[in-house]
Amino acid sequence: MKHRLLYTAIVAAALLTPVISGNCRAQKAQAKGGGQKAWPAPMHLPAALNDLYPPKAQEPVLLMKMHAMNEALTGMIADLSENDGPNAKSNYEQFRKEYVEASKLVRDWTPAFTQEPLDQLGKALATGDQGKVMAAVAKVGQVCHECHLQNMTPVQQKFHWPDFRNVGVTDPVMKTQVDYAQLMQGINLGFTGMGVDLKQGQVENARKHFDAFRTRFETLKETCIACHDTERKYYTDATVLASIDQLGAAISGPSIDPEKVKKLSIEIGTESCMKCHLVHLPATHAKAKWGPPAM
Ligand code: HEC
Ligand code: HEC
Ligand code: HEC
Repeated sequence: MKHRLLYTAIVAAALLTPVISGNCRAQKAQAKGGGQKAWPAPMHLPAALNDLYPPKAQEPVLLMKMHAMNEALTGMIADLSENDGPNAKSNYEQFRKEYVEASKLVRDWTPAFTQEPLDQLGKALATGDQGKVMAAVAKVGQVCHECHLQNMTPVQQKFHWPDFRNVGVTDPVMKTQVDYAQLMQGINLGFTGMGVDLKQGQVENARKHFDAFRTRFETLKETCIACHDTERKYYTDATVLASIDQLGAAISGPSIDPEKVKKLSIEIGTESCMKCHLVHLPATHAKAKWGPPAM
């Protein structure tokens, strides 16, 4: 429990840092002169990838080539396990073709597609020795794995993740159009502001913050559909809403039990804010670092 509390506090602090110190950091960088960046430049993917994905390309060309490679290679292994030598051989030839074609798609990545493991696999297959073939497959798999480790997640984040920055909403309290980050700042103000006011004994202000938080949370719940076609569970579902309503009840009575407020706040902070951030923030932050996608 103590751990969880600490974790929630750290997460809250980490999230708030950009809101509070963003300007301050920019000023520091400026003061240093020459618009120096406080952090090293983010990793950038080769620009050639833009040609291989929508909107520039009709379809995700690189991904389809990956699936073609996988099908031929895995098909070869399946054939081999069925003692189907001729089909194993033809799947190897297909794999070879796909591998060479894949190697030409992104020039910066061509050197990663080494020739040696491909040739060794062909030789092993010719011996008909399954042990040798599987050892050679493992060497090929190493080629795949090393690039995947480095590039698969960034490519998914850049080309398959929708961007939260394109999800605009009407703030139900201010009645103005805001972006997702601003809605979050509003939610955070209500949620955190309530707790702070309670500690200061300002019960009426705490209730006002809670009401604004509850209202904005309803709006947050309606944003899921921007990216999810089917209903999602968890972060804004009935269980979380029940905790929020219990929190509302806990601060509306004549006497307020701080322990109860604390317990419910941690529950909401963990089950809604933190878990939703764990899923959705890595891609959001990666996209923000890279800037808008090239058209
Ligand atoms: C030089 C980099 C590179 C190499 C080498 C590479 N891949 Fe990939 N692979 C990628 C990237 C990047 C993606 C993500 C593509 C996407 O999601 O659009 C990917 C995705 C895949 C996927 C789809 C996985 C999924 O869950 O969506 C498969 C299957 C795959 N690769 C198979 C292979 C195989 C088999 C090899 C080796 C024979 C291989 N790849 C070698 C870069 C590489
Ligand atoms: C900007 C796009 C976007 C918005 C808005 C968004 N999500 Fe997601 N979310 C994704 C993507 C992309 C994934 C990973 C792939 C998938 O599951 O579709 C994901 C994954 C999830 C997952 C894990 C997979 C699963 O279905 O169990 C949950 C849960 C989830 N989102 C809930 C929500 C909820 C609840 C909301 C609204 C409060 C929401 N998301 C809003 C893009 C979004
Ligand atoms: C959809 C799931 C989701 C839920 C639930 C959620 N957040 Fe967020 N939050 C996000 C996303 C996505 C961003 C990043 C938005 C961006 O940078 O465009 C974010 C960003 C933030 C930020 C940083 C805003 C900024 O200016 O960079 C804060 C603070 C925040 N959330 C607080 C909270 C609090 C407090 C809760 C719970 C009461 C909560 N969030 C619940 C998805 C969620």
